[in-house]
Amino acid sequence: MTGQDPYALAGEAAESIRAATEVDTHDVALVLGSGWAAAADRIGDVRADIELSSLPGFPPPSVAGHRNLLRSVEAGGRNLLVFGGRAHLYEGHEPDTVVHGVRTAAAAGCSTVILTNAAGGLNPEWPVGQLVMIEDQINITGRSPMAGPPPPDDQPGRFSDMTDAYSPALRALAHRVDDGLADGVYVGLLGGNYETPAEIRMIATMGGDLVGMSTVLEAIAARHLGLDVLGISLVTNLAAGLSPAPLAHGEVLEAAKEAETRVVDLIRGVLAGMPSS
Ligand code: HPA
Repeated sequence: MTGQDPYALAGEAAESIRAATEVDTHDVALVLGSGWAAAADRIGDVRADIELSSLPGFPPPSVAGHRNLLRSVEAGGRNLLVFGGRAHLYEGHEPDTVVHGVRTAAAAGCSTVILTNAAGGLNPEWPVGQLVMIEDQINITGRSPMAGPPPPDDQPGRFSDMTDAYSPALRALAHRVDDGLADGVYVGLLGGNYETPAEIRMIATMGGDLVGMSTVLEAIAARHLGLDVLGISLVTNLAAGLSPAPLAHGEVLEAAKEAETRVVDLIRGVLAGMPSS
């Protein structure tokens, strides 16, 4: 994406989505993380499927458990844009590419984004399969979508406020939908490898409850554009040093598969309970 205005590129992608779906305005974007991809099939009525990488600015997802799919779905009277996969920093992508889906969703009309992910859990009381509402985040990737050339004049300035980054109202709604949800602080790392036990001890000291390799830059970009954010982590393993076994992506996907039904019920319930925009 070097040299190109990322906001203009998001506008182009949103135009392509309008043309392909014949839906003028989408309301809610749902980004499916590792292992959540199957949820795309059970959220609502499918209107249109687009190959994600056929849209301007989207690389094909390269990580197992992610789909090269953008789906327009009608659910609970809302037009939903479901991203079957996402781009990560650890794949070598720049922050602008990592947050391109969120900026495209905003340009397509979305005022809410639901960010999902698989995460390691630091709380020893959380079993594998625990769903956790992200209450706040710590970005230790060393990158930000707000660093670099300033946003163009027709966009908000770069110093976006990150107080209440994860919407208190949406979190309260999610708790009403599923009373088994936990709350936690998500710590986003560059990734490419799992953490060492020493890193996990550091993260526990700094107040982290969940570790993962996504989400934090997308939440920053979403808040910059004024979107409400709901973040949900599925604990697929205990974090390194707490886990009795070495960590492996296959197990992450397996744990996600087992949680599919609960995940779908939660998202459907949240969509049904959201105040109409
Ligand atoms: N660490 C980082 N990312 C992850 C983990 C983890 O333990 N589990 C799933 N994604």
